[in-house]
Amino acid sequence: DQMSPFVLIFVFQANFYAENPKIQSQTASNTRFCAYFKMCVIDPYWCHSVSLTNGEVTCHSPRGGGYRGTLGSRCKMTCDRGYRLIGRSSIQCLATRRWSGTAYCRKIRCHVLPLIPHGRYTCSQGFYVDSRCDFTCRLGYRIEGEHSRTCLPSGAWSGVQPVCSDTDPPKIKCPPSRLKVADPGKLTARVTWDPPTATDTADKSLNIVLVGQNPDTDFQEGAHVIRYKVYDQARNRAACKFIVRVEVRRCPDLPSPLHGYLSCTSVKNNYGATCEYHCDGGYERKGVSSRVCQFNRSWSGGAAECTPMELKSDVNTSSALLDQFYEKRRLLIVSAPNISDPDYQLQNLMIQKSDCGLDLRHVTVIELLGSPPQGTGRIKEILLQSDVIEGLRQAFRISRTYFSMVLLDERGLDRERFITPVSQEELFSYIDSFLLGEEERERLDLHRDFCD
Ligand SMILES: *[C@@H]1O[C@H](CO)[C@@H](O)[C@H](O)[C@H]1NC(C)=O
Ligand SMILES: *[C@@H]1O[C@H](CO)[C@@H](O)[C@H](O)[C@H]1NC(C)=O
Ligand SMILES: *[C@@H]1O[C@H](CO)[C@@H](O)[C@H](O)[C@H]1NC(C)=O
Repeated sequence: DQMSPFVLIFVFQANFYAENPKIQSQTASNTRFCAYFKMCVIDPYWCHSVSLTNGEVTCHSPRGGGYRGTLGSRCKMTCDRGYRLIGRSSIQCLATRRWSGTAYCRKIRCHVLPLIPHGRYTCSQGFYVDSRCDFTCRLGYRIEGEHSRTCLPSGAWSGVQPVCSDTDPPKIKCPPSRLKVADPGKLTARVTWDPPTATDTADKSLNIVLVGQNPDTDFQEGAHVIRYKVYDQARNRAACKFIVRVEVRRCPDLPSPLHGYLSCTSVKNNYGATCEYHCDGGYERKGVSSRVCQFNRSWSGGAAECTPMELKSDVNTSSALLDQFYEKRRLLIVSAPNISDPDYQLQNLMIQKSDCGLDLRHVTVIELLGSPPQGTGRIKEILLQSDVIEGLRQAFRISRTYFSMVLLDERGLDRERFITPVSQEELFSYIDSFLLGEEERERLDLHRDFCD
């Protein structure tokens, strides 16, 4: 059988080697074919024909010529590009009708390329030789390094892995600048706004920093720069700013009235401030009691004046007299049996120089002396009618027979009585403590030295 002189015309199916890439000795099957067909022919192909899928076989016969398979032929096996030879690279046709070895070509694979953070790649032919993998980065990231790697015949990738780095700064937009008028009665304005939002192609969570005053707080007069800064994870930075301007509207300074003064809320002449008119003792207000600084920078109403209080001397009743003082002046009624009464004289001595102090405290003195028909009553030089004197004595139960003093408040109420002379200090201390209002007391402190 081994020495069969016949040539075997043997057709291998085309896909035979594809399925069995190893070169195999087909001797056994040759024998079966010979036996079956009874037509084995003497054959220069001592060994079966050899081929290599995805490779090339170059043979040299010892008798010359390219016969592959004559006894002693040597074949060199080489693989196509992208394939690696596994097995013998050189085989010989042996006397046993077998080749001295086997080989096949295996497709070369590069290792699986790792993924890159924030990016991806696509490869032209998977991970096989000559496949080119192109890297792309996600929106907002830029590639650093080579843009592609190629699977080399050595099974290694060309180059090194690129990285995707975030180089896009975030975007931030501030609200528009604004002008606010200070709130009525204040030198500040409460200003609020929606904090800006920032966007970034790469990051979702951004760190926004406010540099300046917080929204929904009170801003002082003037311009305030509000800045917002934003950083993304890669510390790319963006910033924006706007201006908050606060304007305090002011009215012209309001002059104090002659013989009087103003008490104002807030800081006197800003929008919303209210100023009240007050007149000194002995003067009364003509005109509005207060004025307000309006938005259009003008004071409401017209200026009030303090005019001297006019006493009507021809009044017939004590109530008509008291009405004139109602809510304007306090009264100190001094009564004595006659002008030479020692208590009266002592009292006169003690408050001789008290006119100024009494005026500061809005006190008018009424003197009632003696009894009818010689009885007199006067306010300074103004003489009172006898009906008025009698009315006063009855209303406040003032005796004619001894010295006494009655202190009435601004509403005409009997607040204190003295039946012995009192010093100026005692009298003023009582008035200051019990009859003066807060405002009056402050005003008195301001002018206390005025009488010295
Ligand atoms: C200011 O506004 C008030 C009403 O609020 C108006 O009566 C007054 O005439 C205005 N004054 C000026 C100077 O425009
Ligand atoms: C006061 O009395 C006089 C007469 O004595 C009279 O003419 C005058 O009208 C009276 N005045 C008042 C305000 O009652
Ligand atoms: C004055 O009144 C006193 C009593 O207070 C009396 O003793 C004296 O005589 C009176 N003098 C005159 C001049 O009426």
